[in-house]
Amino acid sequence: MLGEKNEDDGYKPINFSNLKSKHTAKTTSKNRFLKWALIAAITMYVVLFKLPLLLSFTSFINKTELPHDTSIDVSALLLNILKSSNYAGDWSKIYTAHPHLAGQGLDLVEFTQNKFAEYGLASWNETYEVYMNLPVENSLSLLEIPTSSDATKAGVRYLNSSEPRVVYEASLIEDPLKEDPTTIGDDLTPAFHGYSASGNVTAEYVYVNYGTKSDFKTLGELGVDFTDKICIVKYGSIFRGLKVKFAQEAGCSGVIIYSDPGDDYFKEADGYKPYPKGPARNPSSIQRGSVQFLSQVPGDPTTPGKPSVPGAKRTDPYKSIPKIPSLPMSFRSVLPILEKLNGHGIACSDIPDSTWCTSGGLSSFDYSTGPNPSYQLNLYNNQSYDIRPIYNVYGNLTGTGSQPGYILIGNHRDGWAGSASDPNSGSAVLLEVARALHEITLTTGWRPSRDIVFASWDGEEYGLLGSTEFGELHSKNLKGHCIAYLNVDVAVGGTKLNVQSSPSLNKLLRESMKSVTYEEADSETSLFDDFFSRNEKIGILGSGSDYTVFLEHLGIPSVDMGFTSGPEDPVYHYHSNYDSYHWMSTMQDPGFVYHNRLAQFLGASLVKLSERQVLNMYFEEYATEMIGYFEDLTSKIPISWLTYVPPKAEKTLAVLISETKEVFDGFHNYTITMDTRTDSLQFSADNPDSVPFWKRFGLKWRILGQNMKIQFFERLFIYKKGLTGRKWYKHIVYAAGKDTGYEGFAFPGLKEALDDQNVAEFYKWTKIIKKILNYKAKKADDEKMSSCHMA
Ligand SMILES: *[C@@H]1O[C@H](CO)[C@@H](O)[C@H](O)[C@H]1NC(C)=O
Ligand SMILES: *[C@@H]1O[C@H](CO)[C@@H](O)[C@H](O)[C@H]1NC(C)=O
Ligand SMILES: *[C@@H]1O[C@H](CO)[C@@H](O)[C@H](O)[C@H]1NC(C)=O
Ligand SMILES: *[C@@H]1O[C@H](CO)[C@@H](O)[C@H](O)[C@H]1NC(C)=O
Ligand SMILES: *[C@@H]1O[C@H](CO)[C@@H](O)[C@H](O)[C@H]1NC(C)=O
Ligand SMILES: *[C@@H]1O[C@H](CO)[C@@H](O)[C@H](O)[C@H]1NC(C)=O
Ligand SMILES: [Zn+2]
Repeated sequence: MLGEKNEDDGYKPINFSNLKSKHTAKTTSKNRFLKWALIAAITMYVVLFKLPLLLSFTSFINKTELPHDTSIDVSALLLNILKSSNYAGDWSKIYTAHPHLAGQGLDLVEFTQNKFAEYGLASWNETYEVYMNLPVENSLSLLEIPTSSDATKAGVRYLNSSEPRVVYEASLIEDPLKEDPTTIGDDLTPAFHGYSASGNVTAEYVYVNYGTKSDFKTLGELGVDFTDKICIVKYGSIFRGLKVKFAQEAGCSGVIIYSDPGDDYFKEADGYKPYPKGPARNPSSIQRGSVQFLSQVPGDPTTPGKPSVPGAKRTDPYKSIPKIPSLPMSFRSVLPILEKLNGHGIACSDIPDSTWCTSGGLSSFDYSTGPNPSYQLNLYNNQSYDIRPIYNVYGNLTGTGSQPGYILIGNHRDGWAGSASDPNSGSAVLLEVARALHEITLTTGWRPSRDIVFASWDGEEYGLLGSTEFGELHSKNLKGHCIAYLNVDVAVGGTKLNVQSSPSLNKLLRESMKSVTYEEADSETSLFDDFFSRNEKIGILGSGSDYTVFLEHLGIPSVDMGFTSGPEDPVYHYHSNYDSYHWMSTMQDPGFVYHNRLAQFLGASLVKLSERQVLNMYFEEYATEMIGYFEDLTSKIPISWLTYVPPKAEKTLAVLISETKEVFDGFHNYTITMDTRTDSLQFSADNPDSVPFWKRFGLKWRILGQNMKIQFFERLFIYKKGLTGRKWYKHIVYAAGKDTGYEGFAFPGLKEALDDQNVAEFYKWTKIIKKILNYKAKKADDEKMSSCHMA
């Protein structure tokens, strides 16, 4: 399976039959002579230079193959199949029928595995044993603390009333809706956070806006004391786990995270009805989710960097999960609690960042920080922690073997509640792609040129568990043979396409966007037109889904895609019971049209990658983006840094930067050489007539060599020692933002040095970047010379 086989080299010889098939019909006697001459030449060449390869080549030829008609346009067939049939709604209904947290929903493991098998994939599952929590019990109560004057009064009237009194018990469940069957029942997922700590704390409480690092800093500077307080923050801006991390670091004893309607496009305050009657947020909706410290290290927190297989050595998890308890809440439930802060602590208008007042959507809360000494909260959170099994499912669409390596395409299966968007819109899309490819095989006998491996991950929601453990267990195989990873998580959470990618895949993605129509009424509009009317370019990856281990730990080019929520879309009830089949099929995607579009886009991208003889990846754009980021970051350093020279070094930072710019120039040249060669080799492969016969044999080997260079390009950016303070993240160009989690930043080493005002770190990372790029920049010269030789 993945991992154990083919560890030796994987450099399977290339299939000659593709090129030949176009020729045999036109063979003339002159050609016959040339053919013999060619065979003689090849034989000499091979015997002299390539004997070991010949042996593997022979064994390869002997393998039986399905008929392979290279003239079919696989992309067009795939788009036609998906345009004429759409089963996404059926898959959605099955996947969303009941909640399936990590490790649960074994019927869906079986369903997915069977479906893969039905679509001609060799399918299997894999179990990991991960440390994780399941909710036992929770409660949140508001206590009134009698002040001394109250107590005196009480002393007169009721001698027994000086104890704190519960004045409000918050509801921690979402309203059942008669219209939406998955919101009713006794199997609903309680409100809780993945990896939250158990605890029972009673304390005064404060409001800390989004709970970002700078929110805590701002209030700290204004004199707010967080020590032993319960800190209430709203969702948004950064990954929720980091809110809890910053709260813990600030001294808070517990955290409440609620969904503020101020961040929604459709608001009840503007006259819109809430779900299920309209597009606004249902006031009882609760966003569950993980509070792992994602940007430190994802995956099982007891096995960082190592797979959670039976018998794995486990370590203290608290570097990447919180020690203080937290609970998610709805705005309706938290409102009576927040209202008690009105007029207490620091007024939002006195906070330097003026959006504190205006970004909130609760009209009866004035967004003061508190605390109010007359009130406390009791937060009780009981979580059961254990080592539990999770299940990944895989399906291998075995290719013709004409090209080495495989493409991985995946989606997670586990969800918090109904999960129609997250992740099961992606699960439906994944099955649609598999179905369409299978139909092409059935009707034409086609097999992909490269293997395609489908993956259905478990445990993504808790902390990218299934994909991370997989990446850690099979790292050697993945680094040796995986060409790219295509991720789809929330395929449909809105109608606005969102694509983030390694820049080497941008060109391919733009081309496949052009092949998908966007508006029904106007078939002239493509996904491309819509995307680029809103975006200048394809974005960069951060974290928050299963591509993280592949790109940021292993250096495998990755893509993430999906339709996200825009201003015209109904409020997306992320991680709530209302992310349901009913919501999806009545409000967000009636007819599952966007599901279908994403299947087309993903499928077309996959085929563009699996079929071309020369891998469809380009690097000049990568270099240009990197140069832009480097210019931007270096333009932001304080002038005083320029003369900095670290101990034992000679160069100033200014000199180092200018040398690095020079190296970037050489690196840029190298990428141009690479791309030019890619295009010319692909042209030769497409037009073998244009290649003199004596070069045809060499062409195959040159394509093989070029594909190896393309396949391993991104690996260059993996720095073994990893980023400062979080060594699991090893990619020097892209990483999850240390203080944001979701949002990615380019050159994280430099970015963090700037954020922390640490010149030594800035110097260190400039040196690392220079050294890594110099390796290729030097190659550019060598290769220019060697290609001169060839010409
Ligand atoms: C897919 O299956 C083929 C045929 O069994 C095998 O050679 C190949 O190694 C498999 N690929 C992966 C990634 O498991
Ligand atoms: C995993 O695959 C095996 C073999 O096909 C099967 O017997 C087993 O039931 C599968 N596991 C689950 C959880 O479905
Ligand atoms: C105080 O004690 C009296 C008599 O035991 C009881 O009726 C009353 O409910 C108590 N009040 C409070 C606020 O606990
Ligand atoms: C939480 O702690 C308080 C004492 O601080 C105790 O009275 C209460 O019973 C505890 N709650 C639970 C559910 O254990
Ligand atoms: C959590 O619940 C379990 C099972 O009901 C109970 O045994 C345990 O004492 C509870 N833990 C806390 C911290 O209250
Ligand atoms: C990059 O290529 C340009 C144009 O060919 C050339 O002028 C420049 O010197 C090259 N840079 C490096 C560092 O090789
Ligand atoms: Zn997801």
